[in-house]
Amino acid sequence: MAEDLSITRGSKEEQYQSLLPQIQALIEGESDLYANLGNISAALKEQFGFFWVGFYLVKNNELVLGPFQGPVACTRIAKGRGVCGTSWQQEKPLIVPDVDAFPGHIACSSLSKSEIVVPIFRNSQVIGVMDVDSADLDQFDTTDQKYLEQLMSILAQTIPADFGF
Ligand code: SME
Repeated sequence: MAEDLSITRGSKEEQYQSLLPQIQALIEGESDLYANLGNISAALKEQFGFFWVGFYLVKNNELVLGPFQGPVACTRIAKGRGVCGTSWQQEKPLIVPDVDAFPGHIACSSLSKSEIVVPIFRNSQVIGVMDVDSADLDQFDTTDQKYLEQLMSILAQTIPADFGF
């Protein structure tokens, strides 16, 4: 298949509605988690131009940096630390309109201004989180949350039953 994305202009809703089926086509049938996380990061960055898009995966009870697109980032995050570790601990998505106002935010780059983190659930357990950062304040809302949660459940279906790190 051709691996070109069709980039859509329009509302945020329209952009996600165009992008999600394309990502689904890219990742379904591929059981390698890292390949799929790489393509998801690239597709979101290409469509929306986010500052940083990537993944942290739970390994030995901490989050470890996985595939991403954007500037270099911190490699390990403890449970309950920063936005990512808090989302993992609370097992729910977090939208942070102003990272400087989030107690304990981990600043990988001073250029990042707002952030959304969405857990990846598999068999009701958080196996990692998706983290998206913007260079603009207040970039993310419940539309992003809705579609990124959908995307994480599409992703979870590609993970083989015998998956483990
Ligand atoms: N800001 C995140 C750390 C990861 S970087 O933004 C890529 C946090 O507070 O968990």
